[in-house]
Amino acid sequence: MNIQGSIYRRLMLQLVGSAAILAAILFLLFQSFARQLAVESQDTTLKASASAILESVSVQQGQVVADIPYAALAMLGNVSDDRVFYQISRGTDVLTGYEDLPRSLDDTSWTAKYRDDPIRLVKVSRSLPINGSLTTIAVTVAQTQDGLAQKLGEISRTAILIGLIFFAVATILAVWAARSSVRPLNIVAAAVSRRGPADLRPVTTPVPSEMAPLTQALNAFIARLDRSLSQSEDFIAEAAHRVRTPLATVRAQAEVTLRRVDKEENRVALKQMIRAVDESSRAAGQLLDHAMVAFRTDHLERSKLDLRAIIEEIVERQTPIADLKDIEFLQTTAPDCIVLGDTILIQNALTNIIDNAVKYSPNETVITVTLEREGAEVVLTVADQGPGFEADNINALTDRFARGTNVGQTVGSGLGLTIANEVAKAHNGTLTLKQSTKGSGACVTLSLPA
Ligand SMILES: Nc1ncnc2c1ncn2[C@@H]1O[C@H](COP(=O)(O)OP(=O)(O)OP(=O)(O)O)[C@@H](O)[C@H]1O
Ligand SMILES: [Mg+2]
Repeated sequence: MNIQGSIYRRLMLQLVGSAAILAAILFLLFQSFARQLAVESQDTTLKASASAILESVSVQQGQVVADIPYAALAMLGNVSDDRVFYQISRGTDVLTGYEDLPRSLDDTSWTAKYRDDPIRLVKVSRSLPINGSLTTIAVTVAQTQDGLAQKLGEISRTAILIGLIFFAVATILAVWAARSSVRPLNIVAAAVSRRGPADLRPVTTPVPSEMAPLTQALNAFIARLDRSLSQSEDFIAEAAHRVRTPLATVRAQAEVTLRRVDKEENRVALKQMIRAVDESSRAAGQLLDHAMVAFRTDHLERSKLDLRAIIEEIVERQTPIADLKDIEFLQTTAPDCIVLGDTILIQNALTNIIDNAVKYSPNETVITVTLEREGAEVVLTVADQGPGFEADNINALTDRFARGTNVGQTVGSGLGLTIANEVAKAHNGTLTLKQSTKGSGACVTLSLPA
């Protein structure tokens, strides 16, 4: 399977990534807003102070007099331990205060560097009549920004905490969102994988609209598969019929001709021909049966089967063939041998086991068929008085086309036990071939869960 990435992981990555970016933006916005507010509040105090000083400036006898009220500078000291500077000027002349304080042409508030420290300055001015002409008096009040920096540090820490809480909540929501997005996929996957191999019904699990094309495609595929499977079942039956019928005709013709021919070498040739036809016919039949078994074990249809009835029917069908060799069936069958299985498959397996017993037994022998319940199992045992299994490894006789060393002239294709074994496995049962002690014959056991 070609697996590339994971929707869950990708969703998580995108959602958590977005949450991180949002948290960072939130932090920056919060911080800049807080900074702006802090600066504005400092400006307001500075402006109030500067205005109070400016109010105290008056002209007495042509002289500018400033009586700086205590409160004007005290209000700045209240805010923090920051140093405060002021300057009163008339045009470009400094009347009193710090002479080297940075200047501005307009009434404004600004930030500058003074004695190596950043300071915030506010300048206000008004015109006063001196000696008959209007003169502009300006007051500049400045303050260092240590208090502001300290306040901003506190705000930053709060902003980081808020950002982290936001990120944590967003991550939890992302996990929840990613999980619930992939849940329908998991539900469909579970519904499909829970199915038995024969279950080719369309998927009807409710799915979100995005998944509808996928389930539609899956259902269309299942429908095609179902059609082609039933076609191949028909094909197997048809092929069996078409192969066997002409072979039977050829065999019948050869038999008739054999009766009319006297010349020994022609008779030998005809007998070889009949045998070859028998081999082909058997091989074709067994191959098609095997294909059918492989197909049906993939789509096992289980129903309650009475093994006793099935066995009795097969023995009855084999009796005429057994009679030709004076072989007698001895049956011991228990009544309550019900198994869950596919009739056609079980019939096929049992026919092959009994067919072997008849085929490999010598004349005038007995085949014992026993059917009994052993705990949770139904056990069928077929024992004959033939040569028994002869092979280096008797379990290998269940391999495809495997034939033993004891077959002699007996026609066969080596698929009978393969079929029986596959049917046993498909029904969770076991097929056991018992090594015969010389002369006691073969013993085949088929155990199926009851
Ligand atoms: N009852 C038996 N007694 C002795 N040997 C047996 C018996 N049943 C099976 N065998 C051995 O096991 C081999 C495999 O059996 P299997 O039924 O698979 O094939 P087959 O009988 O040769 O061919 P066919 O596919 O036509 O049945 C046989 O060739 C034979 O050697
Ligand atoms: Mg066989």
